[in-house]
Amino acid sequence: MNRTLVKDALASTQALDAIFLQGWVRTRRDAKAFSFVELNDGSCLKGIQVIVDATLPDYAAVTRASTGASIAVRGKLVPSQGQGQKWEIVAEKFEVLGEADATYPLQKKGHTLEFLREIAHLRPRSNLFGAVFRVRSRLAYAVHQFFQEKSFCYVHTPIITASDAEGAGDMFRVTTLDLAQPPKTEDGAIDSTQDFFAKKTFLTVSGQLEAEIFATALSNVYTFGPTFRAENSHTSRHASEFWMIEPEMAFCDLQGDMALAEEFVKYLIRDAKQHCAADLEFFSKFVDKDLLARLDFVLERPFQRCSYTEAIAILTASGRTWEHPVTWGDNLQSEHERFLSEEHFKCPVTVYNYPRAIKAFYMRKNDGDAPDRQTVAAMDLLVPGIGEIIGGSQREERLDVLREGMALHHLDEKSYWWYLDLRRYGTVPHAGFGLGFERMLMFVTGVANIRDVIPFARTPGTAEF
Ligand code: 4AD
Ligand code: MG
Repeated sequence: MNRTLVKDALASTQALDAIFLQGWVRTRRDAKAFSFVELNDGSCLKGIQVIVDATLPDYAAVTRASTGASIAVRGKLVPSQGQGQKWEIVAEKFEVLGEADATYPLQKKGHTLEFLREIAHLRPRSNLFGAVFRVRSRLAYAVHQFFQEKSFCYVHTPIITASDAEGAGDMFRVTTLDLAQPPKTEDGAIDSTQDFFAKKTFLTVSGQLEAEIFATALSNVYTFGPTFRAENSHTSRHASEFWMIEPEMAFCDLQGDMALAEEFVKYLIRDAKQHCAADLEFFSKFVDKDLLARLDFVLERPFQRCSYTEAIAILTASGRTWEHPVTWGDNLQSEHERFLSEEHFKCPVTVYNYPRAIKAFYMRKNDGDAPDRQTVAAMDLLVPGIGEIIGGSQREERLDVLREGMALHHLDEKSYWWYLDLRRYGTVPHAGFGLGFERMLMFVTGVANIRDVIPFARTPGTAEF
């Protein structure tokens, strides 16, 4: 007999004479004539109650069905006598597949998130992490749906790369050289020509540059894959390995880029509300009580837009004392970003036209700025509770201006020869952005730490599992 998932059993429109379920015991309660076993299989938040009559030949197995044990149950699906669920199972056959003794860490009592991180191999079996990873899976699907419905082409950009897409230098080195005795050149430097790829290689920080190659051929493309940053950031919003979605559009400017970013964020929220309603309700009960109201609020209102220069004026006029005082030309820190979205605009806000000197080399220089106030067509989408969730820009399509930007950022043109070729042959205005998938998940679930929305977090000093 085929297995039925708990989610489908609970959604049944009729009683069933025969049903077969498999899963893990959440709780067991023994009464005189019956035992009540809650079976959860991760297909949804809820478990289903299984009633095992003490007269059943298999009843002896029930005493071995402790919290965490895996079980298989055959029986009938009948209307539930108890409250809170429509259906329950009356067992006819009850089998324990794998026992779990009293050392099983996920007993009924609540655990701290810190403790659950230490048992990342078991935490998917908890209500919270089951819900987080179901939402993660659903939103990954929605990402593809959003772009595929718009005829964007999905491009697999490389994970091992020789170029620094952000020009920021925080990359993990990839090498097969013997670290104890690396080959040296005559002047004593490590000889990378003898390395696996015959040059220095790294884990990618972004698929953008390669996405640009494809956008200037297939028009609208997107990437969705893991990216890596070797920044020594110890915050609740930074991971060393995270997933990024990067659309890239030919014949598109900053306005079109910002519009797509806003539409995309709203689409993902709407999709989660529609397809993960029970999980979101769980988060709003146990993680963040304002979650559902905030998501509705974000869906209903247009996002605000404000230039970097206006943002600096707002921050200065606020009268606040900042931990990092801010004047024109400075990077916005998390405290500034959160003030703008949480306190000033009280909704998501896209800040655009940042100073050229603090942004990446590939961003398009705006025309008509004063020489000491040069800006680029960059944008960051800031959301309440998190700050930056999306970073993007219109790209510099003019060869001479791009080369000047690379010189400004002290980048070697030779390593970017193919990137420059895109401007030599059939260059077009184009734009794109990157959405940090984990930051989006934090926003949609209310979960406050990035370590708790990725199955196995990689952060400085941690790479267990
Ligand atoms: O702003 P970033 O660095 O932009 C880029 O990488 C561009 N190449 C994107 C593009 O235009 N195609 O990163 C984009 C987003 C950030 O807004 C943030 O959401 C997320 O990626 N992000 C991180 N998420 C988790 N941990 C980190 N260390 C992150 N760094 C960036
Ligand atoms: Mg950024």
